Amino acid sequence: MNSWNEGYFTDSTYTFGYYRELSPNFIRWCLTLKGFVAPEVDENSRHCELGIGQGVSANIHAAANPGKFFGTDFNPAHAANAQELAKASGADAKFFEDSFEEFANRDDLPQFDTISFHGIWSWVSDENRRHMLDFVRKHLKSGGAVYCSYNCLPGWAPVAPMRELLKLYDGYHTGGGCNRRTR
Ligand SMILES: C[S@@+](CC[C@H](N)C(=O)[O-])C[C@H]1O[C@@H](n2cnc3c(N)ncnc32)[C@H](O)[C@@H]1O
Repeated sequence: MNSWNEGYFTDSTYTFGYYRELSPNFIRWCLTLKGFVAPEVDENSRHCELGIGQGVSANIHAAANPGKFFGTDFNPAHAANAQELAKASGADAKFFEDSFEEFANRDDLPQFDTISFHGIWSWVSDENRRHMLDFVRKHLKSGGAVYCSYNCLPGWAPVAPMRELLKLYDGYHTGGGCNRRTR
């Protein structure tokens, strides 16, 4: 696709939410409960989040944990906000304005103990999912952990009618004016 947003909705910026599922310690705890050997969270740890949104979770985790934190979001407003937060907190965090494809092709990133993506998989194209997997293939340490959330039924069933309603509104009332994803 040609435009920077690759068909992803960018008419407005994302919310300022915090999600504990992205915490390297929470990931470690969940894996440990299930009997898996989980990556340590210490000074040598490297963590990465794809699609950081406003970067609230990434910044809280960077400020509250040892190690280095990285992330990207192709929305310039999101990346700028995440960078501002990191500057204000002084945390060891580096945030980029790269698309997943660009990020996967960087040669200045370390190997990561954890790679996370929350609220992304269900919302991006197959092509972008391939770029995310390409990133994991290239940048996950042996023994590292990947966290991926996705929407499924029946959990999302109650919200589906609202989504349809908004889609109809966009299609009929505004003539499909907002830059929706194409599939
Ligand atoms: C639904 S939001 C989730 C944000 C954050 N992970 C959270 O849970 O709060 C999806 C984010 O992915 C970013 N995004 C979508 N496609 C992308 C791409 N191809 N490359 C980089 N970022 C992308 C969007 O800009 C948006 O901030």
